[in-house]
Amino acid sequence: MSNTLVIYYSFTGNSKKVAEYVKNKLNADILELEPAVPFSSDYDEVVDEWQNNDIKRDVEIKKVTTDLSKYDKVVLITCTWWYGISPVMKKFLKDYDLFGKDIIVAASNAGWIGHCFNDYKTLLPNSNIKGELDLLFSANAVERDKMLTTQEEVDEWVEKL
Ligand SMILES: Cc1cc2nc3c(=O)[nH]c(=O)nc-3n(C[C@H](O)[C@H](O)[C@H](O)COP(=O)(O)O)c2cc1C
Repeated sequence: MSNTLVIYYSFTGNSKKVAEYVKNKLNADILELEPAVPFSSDYDEVVDEWQNNDIKRDVEIKKVTTDLSKYDKVVLITCTWWYGISPVMKKFLKDYDLFGKDIIVAASNAGWIGHCFNDYKTLLPNSNIKGELDLLFSANAVERDKMLTTQEEVDEWVEKL
């Protein structure tokens, strides 16, 4: 078993693609976070619903059964929702303990990453955050899955772990 775990939440698949790339590159294990009740499949409806994605606003998530204590290193990747990390990632970080682990964090976004890295720091007060990656994707609705951050930047970030 690897000592590195990639943990991600992805609504439209961008963070998922990067999470799988990192998993293969590091030969790591992977854990997908999921809301207990799926969000609407209508993108604009979800954008409207989460317009005030305050750090205190919670969503229920599916129980995580992976034994997190087995991992020394963790990679966290989430989409950005309303200038902050997704409510699913927030809830995970509130409910589960990553105390003392080495961590690198990323937030996929369309150009408005806001306070995502502060959210990670606030929710991970006892972890060693070794690298932050602004994972930029196109804001154009017809090519939202186009990654603008280069593969080299992703590779450099991964090497910080
Ligand atoms: C509800 C919602 C809110 C969003 N808010 C932001 C935002 O504040 N800033 C931003 O740059 N992108 C925002 N986006 C766009 C996504 O962060 C971006 O498309 C990201 O690449 C999606 O990653 P995913 O495919 O892993 O879900 C939002 C998308 C949704 C669905």
